[in-house]
Amino acid sequence: MFTPLRFAFACLFSLAVAQAAIAADCAPDARRGAQVFTTECGVCHAVKKDVAGLMGPNLNGVIGRKSGSLAGFSYSPAMRNKDVTWQAETIAELITQPQAYVPGTYMPYMGLASADDRQAVVCFLKSKEAL
Ligand code: HEC
Repeated sequence: MFTPLRFAFACLFSLAVAQAAIAADCAPDARRGAQVFTTECGVCHAVKKDVAGLMGPNLNGVIGRKSGSLAGFSYSPAMRNKDVTWQAETIAELITQPQAYVPGTYMPYMGLASADDRQAVVCFLKSKEAL
């Protein structure tokens, strides 16, 4: 029998398969991620659409965006040449240790040590995908 609930579970399941490293249900993490984002990233990055002028590029809709591609932002050559698409996994890798993932990046951030915090902040960014 088809029920919306089953459909929801099926969707969550396929997400989990596609993104094994990131838990399927982001909802609780997105809320916590908002706090982590504010303390760890918000001083340099905006997520509100069309807000510019901070040290880092706007991260609204960053999921699915090619690295170093936001128009009008002056990226390092390293970031422009990185050639990844920002997904949960690639962002989690970047913020583990930015200088290791993109040697020569202008992102002056030491890294987020806690895997839980990394997941939470990625979930928060995913929740901003379409805003
Ligand atoms: C001290 C400032 C600063 C902090 C803190 C910081 N960033 Fe950044 N971030 C930058 C700068 C500057 C860049 C551009 C880097 C480059 O051009 O090499 C960047 C780039 C990025 C990019 C690549 C975006 C793109 O358009 O390609 C992502 C994703 C990102 N940061 C996520 C985060 C997250 C998530 C956090 C918090 C865990 C964070 N950053 C913390 C300054 C910062």
